[in-house]
Amino acid sequence: MKTIGVLTSGGDAPGMNAAIRAVVRTAIYKGMKVYGIRRGYSGLVNGDIHEMNVTSVGEILHRGGTILNTARSEFFNTEEGLKKAVSMINIFGIEGLVVIGGDGSFRGARDLSELGVPTVGVPGTIDNDIACTDMTIGFDTAINTVLDAINKIRDTVSSHERTNIVEVMGRRAGDIAVYTGLAGGAEGIMIPEMPIDIDKLCRRIIEGRNRGKSSSIIILAEGAGKALELEKIIEEKTGMETRATVLGYIQRGGSPTAADIILASRMGNYAVELLEKDIGNRVVSIRNNKIVDDDINEALAMENKFNKELYELAQVLSI
Ligand code: F6P
Repeated sequence: MKTIGVLTSGGDAPGMNAAIRAVVRTAIYKGMKVYGIRRGYSGLVNGDIHEMNVTSVGEILHRGGTILNTARSEFFNTEEGLKKAVSMINIFGIEGLVVIGGDGSFRGARDLSELGVPTVGVPGTIDNDIACTDMTIGFDTAINTVLDAINKIRDTVSSHERTNIVEVMGRRAGDIAVYTGLAGGAEGIMIPEMPIDIDKLCRRIIEGRNRGKSSSIIILAEGAGKALELEKIIEEKTGMETRATVLGYIQRGGSPTAADIILASRMGNYAVELLEKDIGNRVVSIRNNKIVDDDINEALAMENKFNKELYELAQVLSI
């Protein structure tokens, strides 16, 4: 393979730029031509495709977001959209594609592979909701951003002796909530994977207060409820002042952590090595600190792992 393309798709994640840099520089190092496709699959369909060089990925390692921009394209998922994408790929002479994104983006990559375009997925999403990999690019940065917020919230919550419900991202996966709940010493964690008994949670808050706790923090994954609705319910049931904080998009921004930059660099490099060997329809993962790859369909079929051990540990330690 002599010419490849790279795009970012779906929600952006810190570290995507490091992955783009790794793809571009590895490809150039290997004597390949590399195109950057702007705005994900939407740019692919519209021919928003530009050749990249060593300097076009200079000074981006520390930047959050994605220099290629990203989008969620509905048109691409239609038969006509896919056809248009393949014709653009042929016009530009692109022989293989690296798709940096989440599982929705991988389904697009799989569709392109089925139409004869070798494609490699690199998992980039703050949600960490891709089963085949231990970590996705952006997750480590996001949980550090959330932890920083929780620590700040703790100062004011304990000063006022209140409860605060902190809503974090994660529609289908509670990883952000579980990891930050453990790291932030949260008194409760609410996630889509584990239904929670609100009365029991409220009893825990009251018991904690009776034992001398000055504050309680509940981490709520967005897929498990709405903080603004829970605020009233918990205040009523505990009789304690309760506030809600919705962290929102702050979780998706910021400079990537060293862990995310390193992960993204390793994954981007590996993706190009696969394409160089004409291997497509794969997803790159990290398992036990080793970079590996799986068939896209097999990767998509894997059941998302929920870290019950960490969830339970957080419960034990927050009594
Ligand atoms: O998939 C990443 C993510 O940040 C989710 O946590 C969140 O629910 C979603 O994207 C929001 O997507 P959008 O910005 O397109 O509304």
